[in-house]
Amino acid sequence: KPMRLWGGRFEGGPADALTRLSVSVQFDWRLAPYDLLASRAHARVLHRAGLLTGEELDRMLGALDELESACKRGEFRPTVADEDVHTALERGLLERLGSLGGKLRAGRSRNDQVATDLRLYLRDHVRTIVSRLVELETALMSQAEEHAATAAPGMTHLQHAQPVSFGHQLLAHVHALTRDVDRLKDWDKRAAVSPLGSGALAGSSLPLDPAAVAAELGFDSPAPNSMDAVADRDFAAEFLFCAAMIGVHLSRLGEEIVLWASQEFRWIEVDDAYSTGSSIMPQKKNPDVAELARGKSGRLIGSLMSLLTTLKGLPLTYNRDLQEDKEPVFDSVDTLLLVLPAVSGMVSTMRVNSAKLEASAPEGFALATDLAELLVRRGVAFRDAHEAVGHLVVWCQVNDKDLGDLTDEELAKVSPHFAAGPAEAADGTPGVREVLSVQGALAARSAFGGTAPDRVRDQLVSLREIVDGQ
Ligand code: ARG
Repeated sequence: KPMRLWGGRFEGGPADALTRLSVSVQFDWRLAPYDLLASRAHARVLHRAGLLTGEELDRMLGALDELESACKRGEFRPTVADEDVHTALERGLLERLGSLGGKLRAGRSRNDQVATDLRLYLRDHVRTIVSRLVELETALMSQAEEHAATAAPGMTHLQHAQPVSFGHQLLAHVHALTRDVDRLKDWDKRAAVSPLGSGALAGSSLPLDPAAVAAELGFDSPAPNSMDAVADRDFAAEFLFCAAMIGVHLSRLGEEIVLWASQEFRWIEVDDAYSTGSSIMPQKKNPDVAELARGKSGRLIGSLMSLLTTLKGLPLTYNRDLQEDKEPVFDSVDTLLLVLPAVSGMVSTMRVNSAKLEASAPEGFALATDLAELLVRRGVAFRDAHEAVGHLVVWCQVNDKDLGDLTDEELAKVSPHFAAGPAEAADGTPGVREVLSVQGALAARSAFGGTAPDRVRDQLVSLREIVDGQ
């Protein structure tokens, strides 16, 4: 006869179709260690309430320890007849303690239990996810350090816009990840509330001590409203948003790496260890890690949508729909823990083709803005400067020349403003030739947040401090 936690009022057994629909142990078994933790705390509270003798408490805790090691050794396994992780573990306890095992359920419901277990599981795993994020930040920062002064084509609309330091671009990805870590740390403040003691929905008539349980389980406080406590899945949805946002960031980085590794760009080479081949084309080396990082963001976003859709329209308090909270959460945790180490490895081993980056940086008239801004410093209205440089670009295109190839006469022909002038005027304004240099363009953007290699190195210093604190 399958073990159920609710057989008393039922005459016949459940229909097979119901059992198959209802069972969740195939996915919620991973909550077992957390359920056992919560059970230990609950047993102590029952003892303090005078509902378990000292001797009963010792036997109970001994059996829970023994059950935990049996689970770890794989000797205790859920069976198809166990509805969920809570049912399976109660069976294990009854097998070890006989009728004493049935005392643990007093004052507790699977409703407050499952909400507690999921919070414990997530708080634990979020700490691991944060460590994996820090590893990726670190990998990006070491590449950025090496390439603080490597000029690269900076793009908007995927078109050459202005030269940037390649390190600056890599650090842009790091900043996004530090916000992800911040979000997860902030998430934990709201997740650190203990539902245990809320029972099914109304609390318990037994003299339990929710604050003691909360403290024992590492929560900041017990839930102040039992109805909210068993119904609330904000912590799960909010985690899924954080995970989806990380997914979007990894997708953007992945997409850039796919582009950078292409024949057309050749900015980087992905290490063999993080590349795959083709079953038919012997020459192929594919950036699958980057593509999977991009692709997996789909399921991370999907998990968030899935849970929000489940929650929408539910009345208070516990509804069985809430059982659907776990698979998206587990899938997002698993996905991040799979993807992050692979992306970190790919980033730290990729080889950057600095020569190609430097050579491409000025292409596409990327220094046109610098030229226009030089005219502004010479007193020309930006509107007119923009126009004049625009003409110069067209002239270059027609004559198949780059801005740097123009002779003084050619420059002067387009606009008298372009007189080359001295390398540096008395007022400190650089000459046309000086402005048409990529390194000059980088160095000139020296205000806070700019792409000047010195500012990029400052950025690295403050980022290292932030990341050390994460
Ligand atoms: N397996 C259930 C879940 O994950 C546990 C709570 C069941 N509670 C109930 N009253 N049926 O949500």
